[in-house]
Amino acid sequence: MENISKLTSAQKLHEDEDDRSLRPSNFREFIGQTKIIDNLKVFIQSAKIRKQSLDHVLLAGPPGLGKTTLAFITARELGVNIKATSAPIIDKSGDMASILTALEENDVLFIDEIHRLSPAIEEILYPAMEDRSIDIIIGQGIGAKSIKIDLAPFTLIGATTRTGLLTSALRDRFGIPLRLNYYEYEDLRQIVKRSAGIIHSSIKDDAAMELAKRSRRTPRIVNRLLKRVADFALVGGLKEIDIKITKYALDKLDIDSAGLDDMDRKILRTIIENYNGGPVGLKTIAISVGEETDTIEDFYEPFLVQSGLLNRTPRGREVSKSAYDHLGIKYFKSGYEDKEQSLFENGGE
Ligand SMILES: Nc1ncnc2c1ncn2[C@@H]1O[C@H](COP(=O)(O)OP(=O)(O)O)[C@@H](O)[C@H]1O
Ligand SMILES: [Mg+2]
Repeated sequence: MENISKLTSAQKLHEDEDDRSLRPSNFREFIGQTKIIDNLKVFIQSAKIRKQSLDHVLLAGPPGLGKTTLAFITARELGVNIKATSAPIIDKSGDMASILTALEENDVLFIDEIHRLSPAIEEILYPAMEDRSIDIIIGQGIGAKSIKIDLAPFTLIGATTRTGLLTSALRDRFGIPLRLNYYEYEDLRQIVKRSAGIIHSSIKDDAAMELAKRSRRTPRIVNRLLKRVADFALVGGLKEIDIKITKYALDKLDIDSAGLDDMDRKILRTIIENYNGGPVGLKTIAISVGEETDTIEDFYEPFLVQSGLLNRTPRGREVSKSAYDHLGIKYFKSGYEDKEQSLFENGGE
């Protein structure tokens, strides 16, 4: 029991300090995603009227879209405490049991990266989510016996970048599955405006829109780029961030007109130059570009797919004609032999 606070402390979540100052703390400040927010508000309101815990919530979507933010806002709107942890730091069944038994009535338990729970630990969650109880084994050998412990009613909020990796047993136990989508430019423009106020800088509308369009439709990235552009403006002696300094700074940061960074372009270029545009397996790509497979699958790939530059096929990843156009490479694909070859080499992932 002694390490519950360690298991659920905020530092363990690897959030950077900067992120937190810009993080919306209520629904009014949370911009965009209106469809899921409107529904979530109804479910929260209903739970409050019933004076019961909110049903378990699963937040899915690429990194930086607001999953952690929404978990904290939800607890706050419910008027309950939140205990936050992350699946990779829970490595013993006892850890999970300690966290669950420490929950108080209607608390929110936030588990980040929930797709990374080990099967044994996931199994503890099933009865906890369904019947609010856990079975623990006391003693060892022939003297060991299983006892049932009742838990306080609670809400589990799980966040995942990859619903595909979640077992259906776990997924089915969330009464409120919510998928966050990439943001609209207008929403990101508003986020830039709000964040600029918080960091005490001022930005023109067209400059804010430029940032919005070059931020992978992701709030975390638009905030990060805003801060870097603000640095260039400050050093350049500007009182207000304008379109000129914004474009200048983004070029210096190697963010191109489509919002792609070095690694995005490297991935596309590698598939084109080394694998004839694909299909090629994800692992092969990861090795070629020198990046973790997980990082490519969680972070880089979803945006490239969303942008229509990359396609996932049963035989691997394939770049689209627009990727050639974007990189200024002449579109050319040779015969089918190469493709058949890659089928056997890389398989479908
Ligand atoms: N809807 C939003 N409105 C304004 N800012 C947002 C929104 N969603 C996310 N952010 C900003 O982006 C950052 C990253 O969000 P976070 O919740 O940590 O994403 P995730 O957990 O999905 O990776 C937050 O700190 C916050 O500053
Ligand atoms: Mg998060």
